[in-house]
Amino acid sequence: MAETTKIDLDLKVKRSVQVYDTSFLNGYDLWVHGFCNKYAWKCPTERLIDQYRDLTSQNHLEVGVGTGFLLDKASLDPAERRIGIMDFSRNCLDYSSRRLKRYDPELYHHDILKPFPENYTSRFDSIGINYVLHCVPGEFSSKGKSFGNLKSLLSPGGVLFGSTLLGAGIKRTAIARALMWGYSKFDIFSNHADSEHALRRSLSQHFTDVRIETVGCCALFEARR
Ligand SMILES: C[S@@+](CC[C@H](N)C(=O)[O-])C[C@H]1O[C@@H](n2cnc3c(N)ncnc32)[C@H](O)[C@@H]1O
Repeated sequence: MAETTKIDLDLKVKRSVQVYDTSFLNGYDLWVHGFCNKYAWKCPTERLIDQYRDLTSQNHLEVGVGTGFLLDKASLDPAERRIGIMDFSRNCLDYSSRRLKRYDPELYHHDILKPFPENYTSRFDSIGINYVLHCVPGEFSSKGKSFGNLKSLLSPGGVLFGSTLLGAGIKRTAIARALMWGYSKFDIFSNHADSEHALRRSLSQHFTDVRIETVGCCALFEARR
């Protein structure tokens, strides 16, 4: 990739996470998991929490942790559980590490579009990545390389799971269309070309067993090596 294009992408990634470095984070749970999931995205928050209850292992990395809402609400037993939390926003890492203190989390400040240095950390048996991919600039043909990067941190037989909001190939309510339009205008979302098909193709480049279920605008996925 040409140097200027790389710099452009870095700037876009910085812009897309800027909003999480503000006091918006204090109202995030109520707005996103309280209002938008139900009225705009049409995917019940309970559905996301269930996925975390089902698939979070004893050795788990949470990517794009935000406020830490889902791990918190999944009410997992902290005993002998290793939890890593990763985000490109320092504010999110500070906020969620306080909330998830009972897990004594390992903190990773990293942009998932960047490969991980060799021996970055020991591997995880599950990796959760919820509502992150629709924020990452580009289409799945380019942002899908984050799956390859994360795969390098996943144990053989481990599972990568989460969900993302699709912008193509789904029925959207008027409120969902208006919100996605506004978020895209401010570079918070980048999902206008994201379809279930594109997500499946991208995951299948890195994983052998890929399952996706779309509920409203939300594609819930799990992928195994
Ligand atoms: C919409 S929030 C989702 C928060 C949480 N996972 C949830 O479901 O409530 C997106 C999160 O992903 C992080 N993020 C966005 N792009 C990222 C990137 N390229 N690398 C790492 N984290 C990123 C943001 O800082 C933010 O914490």
